[in-house]
Amino acid sequence: MAIERTLSIIKPDATRRNLTGRINAKFEDAGLRIVAQKRIKLSAEQAGKFYEVHKDRPFYGELVEFMASEPVVVQVLEGENAIARNREVMGATNPAQAEEGTIRKEFALSVGENSVHGSDAPETAREEIAFFFSGLELVG
Ligand code: PPS
Repeated sequence: MAIERTLSIIKPDATRRNLTGRINAKFEDAGLRIVAQKRIKLSAEQAGKFYEVHKDRPFYGELVEFMASEPVVVQVLEGENAIARNREVMGATNPAQAEEGTIRKEFALSVGENSVHGSDAPETAREEIAFFFSGLELVG
């Protein structure tokens, strides 16, 4: 199986509740290695650009406002099949539909305040990692 990298964001609802360590433990328990990580505060402009793909959806404004409301932790996770594995560990977007043991089942508050973001495919993972991290920050 391929070793992949994926972009993860621990969202404001989770940083606010001091859940970064507990969420990181879930990644590590699932065999994902945190190979880069930083805590940043997004501007509304940066959040809007990151989520541009959703710009025509009704919740876009709310999503951008939320992501720029408080600090986030952006990270690169590495491991076998990391993109799919991370999405399994995260659970469904809507926590009401997330499986037991997933991050969103345990911690998410709503479909918007759902604690984590993870890339959905290899191409988006590459783009999203490059959005936040320079080559110098990514140790091979
Ligand atoms: S998915 O998994 O990409 O298909 O999920 P999707 O339903 O398309 O949602 C995409 C992102 O938008 C967020 N979202 C919302 N934010 C605020 N309010 C509402 N109602 C809402 N619905 C969806 C959702 O948390 C997804 O965020 P990311 O960071 O991409 O997981």
